[in-house]
Amino acid sequence: MTAKIIDGKKTAQKIRLELKREIQNLKTKPELRVILVGNNPASQIYVKNKEKYASEVGIKSETIRLPEDITEEKLLKQIKKLNKDKHINGILVQLPLPSHINEFSVINAIAPEKDVDGFTIYNKGLLSIGKPALTPCTPLGIIELLKQYKVNIASKNAVVIGRSNIVGKPMAQLLLNEDATVTICHSKTKNLAEITANADILISAVGKPKFIGKKYVKKGVTVIDVAMNRDTKNNRWVGDVDFDNVSKVAKFITPVPGGVGPMTIAMLLKNTVQAYKIQKKMVK
Ligand code: GUN
Repeated sequence: MTAKIIDGKKTAQKIRLELKREIQNLKTKPELRVILVGNNPASQIYVKNKEKYASEVGIKSETIRLPEDITEEKLLKQIKKLNKDKHINGILVQLPLPSHINEFSVINAIAPEKDVDGFTIYNKGLLSIGKPALTPCTPLGIIELLKQYKVNIASKNAVVIGRSNIVGKPMAQLLLNEDATVTICHSKTKNLAEITANADILISAVGKPKFIGKKYVKKGVTVIDVAMNRDTKNNRWVGDVDFDNVSKVAKFITPVPGGVGPMTIAMLLKNTVQAYKIQKKMVK
């Protein structure tokens, strides 16, 4: 068997085109503010891409660049100002933040209806009880990919490796909301391969190149690789999955790059439009 490749690049493109059309029919353009503190090189790249694709679909986006040594108080003041500004529909604080700043306080200062990352306790609470919420972009993008490729989720065994607040936990909740039987594994899990070999859907967010080899999967599995590991020797991005070997037994598989990555930004744009609609009372 050779797996069918889940093309995140193409799917994200399609979603951006749909969003562009939807935005053309809105009375005003949705507006996004990205707050970037300091000079983290990876964050600079993410933020640049967010700006590029926001402008492509017709979202007004500006990045507020703040110095590494900004006080938490000043950062909170900036967020409160954006919360009050009626023209701003979405606020995103790029993570990680410098260590002297309390990430929890900063994220939860964002008004829930402008929280396009879905990281506030309010939106996470809604997600955990299965109510409509602004939802973290990476797991939301993965559910979208599974649906686009008509991968059945209900009643399937879904195994998530990773328990972060950004990917693993919201991923598990979304799969549960789709009626999957969900197992979360992590760095302290024993007999990992025994558990993952039972998965119909395997989602890996570990951060170790080629970690998921053939012994971790069963025939016909759908494999979603969330990781972006830098292979400095060959100057390229690699995921967690030993793609060449696992794709021989899987039914569906995502590549790295070109799988989950492009979907994350597409979902951020979708969340920004959703936030706009919530604020304009176009949706509940
Ligand atoms: N840093 C890495 N991933 C993310 C993300 O999805 N949102 C934000 N705000 N920061 C990140």
